[in-house]
Amino acid sequence: MQIVTTIAEAKAITRAWKRAGETVGLVPTMGYLHEGHTSLIDRAHAENDHVVVSVFVNPTQFAPTEDLASYPRDFDHDCELCEAHGADLVFHPEPEEMYRNPQAYVGIDLLSETMEGAARPIHFRGVCTVVSKLFNIAQPDNAYFGQKDAQQLAIVKKFAADLDFDVNVVGCPIVREEDGLAKSSRNAYLTPEQRAAAPVLYRSVRMGQAAIKPGMKSADLEAQMKAVLAEEPLAETEYVTVVDALTMQPVDVIDRPVLVAMVVRIGKTRLLDNFSYDPANA
Ligand code: PAJ
Repeated sequence: MQIVTTIAEAKAITRAWKRAGETVGLVPTMGYLHEGHTSLIDRAHAENDHVVVSVFVNPTQFAPTEDLASYPRDFDHDCELCEAHGADLVFHPEPEEMYRNPQAYVGIDLLSETMEGAARPIHFRGVCTVVSKLFNIAQPDNAYFGQKDAQQLAIVKKFAADLDFDVNVVGCPIVREEDGLAKSSRNAYLTPEQRAAAPVLYRSVRMGQAAIKPGMKSADLEAQMKAVLAEEPLAETEYVTVVDALTMQPVDVIDRPVLVAMVVRIGKTRLLDNFSYDPANA
């Protein structure tokens, strides 16, 4: 496995693979890898000749008030996991390598206006920009993203299609702890007491999955799921919302494929969870 820090080195390696007619799978990450990330690497390894993992805590997707400086990092352990899961190349640039007085950005309308985009106004512009750069650097045939960040996945699919990127964007299922908490690098912020409270998100998701029906009012489902969250005193619900699976816009009635997404704050940590539902498959 090779580890490179410059765009030029990463391009040289991936261009040589492409010239040889070999396929490339890309797994973009911000590091501090866990089984959620390694599930994406495994899938990429199974479906491509070569796997590139990027490990880059992208400053442009953090607002000045957010946790950029304290975001957890352990690059040596990340490399061990990448190697064990069959990655061929780890791309680990410094921010100065990725951003040299940048004046160009990639953004997306509509899909970025709700949920995480509403809570974090510059977030998705930063994500779209860095993912575009990674697509240009690695030239992947396939790129792997977790359903855990469902709005991000929908946004990456849409901008890749809108801007004619020659990449197949693959969504992968949420990997959970034994008690149901979705794995996340930010779970490291939780105190033991907060950690014990965190499975309430998954309880609410499970309840929602059992209750959801074609033609149901979104407000009724949201209220039932919020009631589960309200049982946990340490959990502060930021939103529970039903949106159109493609546009990320709220829907009144569950009459099309939807995403049911929530953000809950426990202490200072924002935890995400969600599930998808298609009434046609009910
Ligand atoms: P990061 O939070 O490190 O996540 C990298 C990828 O791992 C994302 O596609 C995310 O959805 C996926 N992932 C995280 N936890 C997961 C879980 N429990 N189950 C399945 N997949 C999981 O998302 C980012 O980084 C950044 O925004 C990035 C796309 C790298 C751009 O900077």
